[in-house]
Amino acid sequence: MFAQSFGRGDFSVSGCRVCAGPLQALADFGRQPLSQAFVRPDEVSTEFCYQLAVGICTDCTMVQLLHEVPTAAMVHEGYPYHSSNSTVMRKHFQDTALSWLDNELADRRDPFVIEIGCNDGVTLQTLRDKGVRHLAVEPSGIAGVRVHKAFFNAASAAAIHSADGPADIVYAANTICALPDIASVFAGLAVVLADDGLFVFEDPYLGEILARTSFDQIYDEHFFYFTVRSVQNMADRFGFELVDVERLPVHGGQIRYSVARRGRRVPTPAVAVLLTEEEGARLTNPSIFDDFVARVDLTRDSLMSLLRRLTAAGHTVVGYGATAKSATTANYFGIGPELVPFVCDSTPAKQGTLTPGMHIPVRPPADFADPYPDYALLFAWNHADEIMAKEKAFRESGGRWIVYVPDVRVV
Ligand code: TYD
Ligand code: ZN
Repeated sequence: MFAQSFGRGDFSVSGCRVCAGPLQALADFGRQPLSQAFVRPDEVSTEFCYQLAVGICTDCTMVQLLHEVPTAAMVHEGYPYHSSNSTVMRKHFQDTALSWLDNELADRRDPFVIEIGCNDGVTLQTLRDKGVRHLAVEPSGIAGVRVHKAFFNAASAAAIHSADGPADIVYAANTICALPDIASVFAGLAVVLADDGLFVFEDPYLGEILARTSFDQIYDEHFFYFTVRSVQNMADRFGFELVDVERLPVHGGQIRYSVARRGRRVPTPAVAVLLTEEEGARLTNPSIFDDFVARVDLTRDSLMSLLRRLTAAGHTVVGYGATAKSATTANYFGIGPELVPFVCDSTPAKQGTLTPGMHIPVRPPADFADPYPDYALLFAWNHADEIMAKEKAFRESGGRWIVYVPDVRVV
């Protein structure tokens, strides 16, 4: 499926990852470092880069990356997930698990739930506390929940099925869009999902990325940019069926998809409603991206002129949240330490490193108030409410936030 493009260190995809159909290029953000490759000051010379470009499959409409970083080059392989440290996300995952107990799992005897890649482990911990059989399937492992250390595929699914039986729910949050070998995921589902079970996954929604110009959702680890239409096609291709969709407010707008074995459930009206909405928005029409790219460049021009103006006038600007997303922003726009001298982040493993590509030093959140800068560039805009509430003393002391999604604003 992959053809090596020499001299680049990454691979060009020769066809759609779902159906092998032809890919049409939509947008190109140039050479980029790996979004999670925070570097130690002595490592900067060995930085790996790849071409960040997206395209659409003209057969199944799946929007996806056109190049791929070899898994071996992904720095964090085998390392634990970097927690987002968000109380909003903790509650989101707790509520998710609790709602299953009231609905999907309510009438099942001794239900069994699998999570593929388990984030902070909050969803499964919540189920564990309620005595529900659970299993995380993920290579790195996480404390407090049962883990099968493997990638989710037919082989690991078979081992799980023989030990634990079929799964009533297989869940994945911010994970499926990051698994390029999607056929292997469905092969695993075919083995381990109960006949009347549900595969539930949630990921960034292309409709929101386009509507809010949240271009920085596009980075190396997000291979797929799902729509209801493309997920419906994908499920169908692998013998499954999209039976429910639910919009989620988290991370700038996601959709939670529920997929069943084909013919097992009647799709809810929400599926047809969103499909119609997508047609109205011409979401699967490649031309919509022309306007998107123009809007991204507008954001770049206005943010860069703002940062340059503030810096020239002697104002201080500090970044807030060393997100994976911000690798795309900083590198595509060209935001380095001369404009943003440091970025603060609550993740201990990121502190003391430099951000990928632009090498902005990452420091602990305590440095934010020591002293407060004049402006804070909110790279973690997906946690805006939570962070602005936590840092309300910053605004009270006269500080201002700069946000750039959906457009550049000083608040
Ligand atoms: P995340 O939401 O996972 O976004 P991405 O997938 O783009 O990396 O990351 C949020 C980052 O922001 C993470 O590095 C932790 C940091 N953060 C803070 O520093 N303070 C906070 O209050 C929150 C919520 C996050
Ligand atoms: Zn396709």
